[in-house]
Amino acid sequence: MSDDAQQALRRAAALLAQARNILVLTGAGISAESGIPTFREAQTGLWAQYSPEDLATPEAFARHPERVWAWYRWRRALIARGGVNAGHRAIAALGGLTRVFVATQNVDGLHAAAGSLDIAELHGNIWRDRCSRCDTTVAHEILEPATEDIAVCRECGAMMRPDVVWFGEMLPIDALRAAESALDRADAVLVVGTSSRVYPAAALADAAIESARPVIEINPQPTGLSDTVDIRLADSASRALPALVAALDGVLTSG
Ligand code: APR
Repeated sequence: MSDDAQQALRRAAALLAQARNILVLTGAGISAESGIPTFREAQTGLWAQYSPEDLATPEAFARHPERVWAWYRWRRALIARGGVNAGHRAIAALGGLTRVFVATQNVDGLHAAAGSLDIAELHGNIWRDRCSRCDTTVAHEILEPATEDIAVCRECGAMMRPDVVWFGEMLPIDALRAAESALDRADAVLVVGTSSRVYPAAALADAAIESARPVIEINPQPTGLSDTVDIRLADSASRALPALVAALDGVLTSG
């Protein structure tokens, strides 16, 4: 690690050591190292012929539910195979040192699998089915074997769909409110592995910056936020997060 990177890590740890409540905002980048492609990268291989509008909209589901379900089953299998990585684990470990709330754009359920407790899933959860008519939900375990048939709702008999937010749909209001109150309480914000371009989730990071709360960004690539954050750790989540949590632990135990 360069001297500059080490200094940034030390400053970030010192800043977190002052915080009683930390909000962690995460995106596809934290799960990339579990081998889970981001949405756009996922348009490869077998699925390259379809655009996101063919796979992740209510209209696509109405026209081709079997195709949409096949794609979501493929993504579930990737997630089950990849599992949690050192980045997810480090965020869970951070929760053992201080109060942490995680607001994620990811639907993979890996923060909970790693042991984080307070989580808002802003774009839903791929491991939950929801009735396309009456909203009854059914949760699955991450390692549950996939079935080939499209499940129907046990309450009303309509087709089940993945309980994720598709293009053109609203975010779950409870998750959004929980994330907003976590931001109100937070005295530091960590933004990890998100391009911060997809709204309204990205508005949380914008609001953190506008509110003058200290913001630390972890991302190997610069983003639209990078110039305005207080500290930027230009590294992968699976390297930067464990290093940051170890450094924080060091500050807390020595102080
Ligand atoms: N560690 C940290 N960050 C990483 C890593 C890594 N190992 N690898 C990539 N990144 C960063 C990229 O540099 C990029 O800035 O992760 C970010 C991923 O950005 P996006 O693909 O735009 O993902 P996200 O910000 O989560 O927004 C995607 O849009 O398609 C919809 O609903 C879908 O939730 C999804 C949202």
